[in-house]
Amino acid sequence: MSTSGRIGSWSEYQRAYQLSIADPEAFWAAEADRFTWKRKWNRVLEWDFKKPEVKWFIGGELNITENCLDRHLEQNGDRIALIWEPNEPKEEVIGISYRELHERVCRYANVLKRNGVKKGDRVAIYMPMIPDLVVGVLACARIGAIHSVVFCGFSARSLADRIIDAQAVAVLCSDGMHRGAKAMSVKDVVDEALTHCPSVKHCIVSQRTGDAVPMTVGRDVWLHAELKHVDANCPAEAMDSEDPLFILYTSGSTGMPKGVVHSSGGYMVFAEYSFRNVFQYKKDEVFFCTADVGWITGHSYMAYGPLLAGATQVMFEGVPTYPDAGRFWSIVDKHKVNIFYTAPTAIRSLMAHGLDHVSPHSLSSLRVLGTVGEPINEEAWHWYKQHIGKGKCPIVDTWWQTETGGILISSLAGVTDEKPSYAAYPLPGIQPVLLTADGKEILENEVEGLLCIKFPWPSILRTTWGDHERCRQTYFSSYPGYYFTGDGAKRDADGRYRIIGRVDDVINVSGHRFGTAEIESAINESEWVVESAVVGYPHNIKGQGIYAYVIAEKEITDAEIARKDIIASVVKVIGPIAKPDKIQFVSGLPKTRSGKIMRRILRKVAENELGSLGDTSTLLDPAVVEEIKTGRL
Ligand code: WTA
Repeated sequence: MSTSGRIGSWSEYQRAYQLSIADPEAFWAAEADRFTWKRKWNRVLEWDFKKPEVKWFIGGELNITENCLDRHLEQNGDRIALIWEPNEPKEEVIGISYRELHERVCRYANVLKRNGVKKGDRVAIYMPMIPDLVVGVLACARIGAIHSVVFCGFSARSLADRIIDAQAVAVLCSDGMHRGAKAMSVKDVVDEALTHCPSVKHCIVSQRTGDAVPMTVGRDVWLHAELKHVDANCPAEAMDSEDPLFILYTSGSTGMPKGVVHSSGGYMVFAEYSFRNVFQYKKDEVFFCTADVGWITGHSYMAYGPLLAGATQVMFEGVPTYPDAGRFWSIVDKHKVNIFYTAPTAIRSLMAHGLDHVSPHSLSSLRVLGTVGEPINEEAWHWYKQHIGKGKCPIVDTWWQTETGGILISSLAGVTDEKPSYAAYPLPGIQPVLLTADGKEILENEVEGLLCIKFPWPSILRTTWGDHERCRQTYFSSYPGYYFTGDGAKRDADGRYRIIGRVDDVINVSGHRFGTAEIESAINESEWVVESAVVGYPHNIKGQGIYAYVIAEKEITDAEIARKDIIASVVKVIGPIAKPDKIQFVSGLPKTRSGKIMRRILRKVAENELGSLGDTSTLLDPAVVEEIKTGRL
């Protein structure tokens, strides 16, 4: 390996991969050695996927913020860590150096302490993409509080559910937010949520819009006022490698979203390792990940990975289509972005706006492009390659999950080869396997199967908050001895992986996961609804759209009114991002005699594959299928 620590060639990749399999402990110990530890670990790994229990760097102590900030100060304190690009292109850009970020984090951490937040406490963060979001995340980590960032587009109800589940003691938020042409309140949503959350004792509010917002005396304080009372010295709390660093809620096929828990040590090592190698980040380059910190991508490749690597990165407050659909490209030119990382849905949507929005921009600074969150179709891949990368930038199609903490399967930019729609090769340390439905490992190539991982990597989830059994059942019980991803995948003749999509009842809308059960329960709250069933269907821009079949409570005189009410119910319970794209009213759902909904049939109808519905004779009432087919939207 080169002195930069990056894998620089195909043969280096192969060597690293082989070493990581032959002696995983030596491999990861060497990587972990690159960081600042307060106390060195005494054992590298203990694991048992049956329990499940995974521990990395046992006995080690560290603080991730020391690794994100302090250790860069001596040589690179003046380097810009964050370039904040506001929603309005004319508003002033804010550049924050590592030294300034360190100071802001320490001060914010002291504000947390002043408000009674202690090591191990949970802190919910509900904020738009402003610097205080990253500062707040790191401030929690500084004092050992466990952050739980909730995407700022979720409803008050979703926020409350997550706060209650984690029993958070404090909430960090802003007064309001700017998103494209709209300004929205944030504090109002928090206030509504907090009426259900007695565990929350403090709410710390950042100023963004300057709007007057109600402040509850004794609970709510302004961050800027609090900062006057604290100094810039805040020693980093010593955290055990296995102490939780954060909780991030994500949807599964059943029930309420679960709090995926990540560790302090292993997560740190893998977030930086994957950032450095996948994107091949070089000193002084500018990295731009468009994901919101409310999702895992914003955690690993904005809040943590790039800072651990001492990188300079852009944080963008707004949306890709404001003031026009060339906004990403104007940001790339304005800040001379070298590495650009976004979701296929954004690429497809900008592609649909046409090349007129691309051609005014030079994009000559770009060196590497990346995608994440969902499969990328070949058409979008080629458009990205040709029109954004001008044919010269490698594309990394990065496959991973909230639960994996970092990228597991991806080509390494310009180092290992790429193939459209293939995430390609596992990173060193990652041992993917494809299983048959009955759990047998498929050893050959040119096959398709269920994607599982058979050996732990440092940033694998440790548990689901407050419910370890749910973690076991969801990820480790279907195929004992393996971590089950919930995805199906293909492997080509050369061992590259292509992710096909979820094989469970999870719908991936614009790269965001929703469980069908979660959306159905939101729909069922509408007074118009008796029962519903939701499936995903192919959508040109979003990847998957949400198709809802609804049995109405009463006769529908005006279907539009009923549809609006159902949508309003989903917005209230989950948030606008989970709105169904299509709602079809039906008199019954295809059920087996034991009462189980045959989603396969509903999926085929939504996909307009009416010829391949399969055997419907076992249904309780086969006639509903005809009705559903005729009424298809
Ligand atoms: C899907 C996002 C195809 C997959 C980091 C996975 C992908 C789910 C890709 C996780 C990719 C993510 N190609 N599918 N490159 N990346 N997925 O937890 O179905 O929001 O299981 O994590 O997104 O979504 P999550």
